[in-house]
Amino acid sequence: MRGTRLQIRPTALSHNAGVARTLADGAQVFAMIKANGYGHGLTLAADAMAGQVDGLGVALMDEARVVREHGIRKPILVAEGFFDQDEIAEAARLDVEVVVHAAWQVALLSKRPAPLGVWLKINTGMNRLGMPPEQAREQAALLRAIPGVRLAGLMSHFACADQQDDPLSERQLATVLALSEELGLPVTAANSAALIRYPAARRQRVRPGIMLYGSSPFPWRSASELGLRPTQRFSARLIAVNPIGAGQTVGYGATWRAPENGTIGVVAVGYGDGYPRHAPNGTPVAVNGRRTELVGRVSMDMITVRLDGLEARVGDDVELWGDTVSVDDVAVACGTISYELFCQVTARPERVIG
Ligand SMILES: Cc1ncc(COP(=O)(O)O)c(C=O)c1O
Repeated sequence: MRGTRLQIRPTALSHNAGVARTLADGAQVFAMIKANGYGHGLTLAADAMAGQVDGLGVALMDEARVVREHGIRKPILVAEGFFDQDEIAEAARLDVEVVVHAAWQVALLSKRPAPLGVWLKINTGMNRLGMPPEQAREQAALLRAIPGVRLAGLMSHFACADQQDDPLSERQLATVLALSEELGLPVTAANSAALIRYPAARRQRVRPGIMLYGSSPFPWRSASELGLRPTQRFSARLIAVNPIGAGQTVGYGATWRAPENGTIGVVAVGYGDGYPRHAPNGTPVAVNGRRTELVGRVSMDMITVRLDGLEARVGDDVELWGDTVSVDDVAVACGTISYELFCQVTARPERVIG
């Protein structure tokens, strides 16, 4: 057996959902499980967290269908809403709430009314999806006039809540709160970062994602400091242990040169498994629970790591991220975010649940 594994931990997911619930302080918690549960498995994430949360958040109707067909009856929010009339009918059949972010969606819904809970998305500064407040006022009135439609509230999304020097969140929150007061509607705005950092953003419903998966939204505060547990352990085995002479290079492109005589471990994982190809020299890994570093380029099926001073043999365990090396440490080394690392693990590693 090659032994390249992605261990997924339902008890850690449930624990982290409990942390979010405590922080929410009475606001409804909708756990974001889009994109295959941030790579953990859509129905696995739903099952693991359902007991701790009020509802689940997905991006697409297809994701909502999979969750419903799995037998989960919890409320579901579809964050990109419907794309056409068929999806309106599908949303009603699945009994899910939808986000409406554009006037064309309101027009489609008035042509094909359905008994649906709708959250109207306001653009408060993200400038991605959502209506400016002036347009939202008018569209809210139109939505309220559609038979069967229940205007459940206003939704917004923060652009910078995870940035230390955050220039936008306060203004974004003030905009959505002013409109919610005017229209007498509940608000959902907070992602993980805002849930943790801005109590005033919690309002009626929060939508945490990344914190549930054991990753910190903040570069300056670790997941363990936030009381979060790793929900994944990505690991592989050493398949060769080779001496290297001072001055010799390792791997494609000869991007790393040994500064002295040493030992190189070859590990059975590569970008074909979803380990990031752009991981640079020095990216942390742990061999038998001791931290060391990646050296040389990531190949499709293998990586090479430095074993100098470590006891290591063929077959030994190498953690790519998990308990000793946090996914956030790897993300920082790779110049990316844990979200992307989670989403990129391919089907090839064996999944081990528990
Ligand atoms: C609409 C919406 N709400 C909530 C979230 C959760 O954000 P995070 O994973 O940063 O907590 C996301 C994720 O990107 C999202 O798109």
